[in-house]
Amino acid sequence: MTTEENKDKIPTHLAIIMDGNGRWAQEKGLPRTAGHKKGAEVLKPILEHAQKRGIKYVTLFAFSSENWNRPKTEVKYLVELFRKYLNEYAKEMDKHRVAVSFVGTREKFPADMVNKMNEIERETAKYDDFHVIFALSYGGREDLIAATKRIALDIREQKYLISAIDENKINEALSTHGAPYPDLVIRTSGEQRISNFLLWEIAYAELYFTPIYWPDFNEQDLDIAIEAYGRRNRRFGRV
Ligand code: FPP
Repeated sequence: MTTEENKDKIPTHLAIIMDGNGRWAQEKGLPRTAGHKKGAEVLKPILEHAQKRGIKYVTLFAFSSENWNRPKTEVKYLVELFRKYLNEYAKEMDKHRVAVSFVGTREKFPADMVNKMNEIERETAKYDDFHVIFALSYGGREDLIAATKRIALDIREQKYLISAIDENKINEALSTHGAPYPDLVIRTSGEQRISNFLLWEIAYAELYFTPIYWPDFNEQDLDIAIEAYGRRNRRFGRV
């Protein structure tokens, strides 16, 4: 494909590391939590725009396994924020017609939130046009460890032989099973690292780093990232 032909290429699966909420707030003289509040607000228009552009899956890194180590007040604020959005979403599930799922150790959240996550997943599984996957208390290495344990159990139960372990078996054992591999990963805020996000799944994803803080990231910025993706020449190890 030439660059021209590639121009309107849209990623099927977009993954986003929503970073920079804290710095956005601090630079405005506001508490870090104000950045999270704004960060949550900008998410909806971005998701609507992603859907409009023809993206089918969006995975969002909303809270990492390591984020539990932040100051108690910040963690508490984030948990309350997630609870608020979960409750709001649960009430409007049929309006949005979006399949929502969660990856990560959801059991670390209070029981009412776990129930809400389960309910949302169950009730929206029927939608197939657009999928939003929230990574909450998620870590790529933890997910690979859990997958390894699942595979080991299957082998112990003689469901298949060791020689049958392949890429597919690992995919099926990961919490992200069912979604295609991400095509494009966007990280906002200028940091250029993956920070334990979807380690296995992004082996061939295109990485896009922007200095914009997440609360300032808008629909036009998403278009610019999609356009940059369209100009990339993906070879998957081939020539
Ligand atoms: C990274 O910014 C952001 C987080 C750890 C939390 C992400 C959460 C949101 C964007 C809200 C999402 C809301 C819902 C409803 C899912 P940071 O705090 O690491 O910023 P910093 O690097 O500038 O400190």
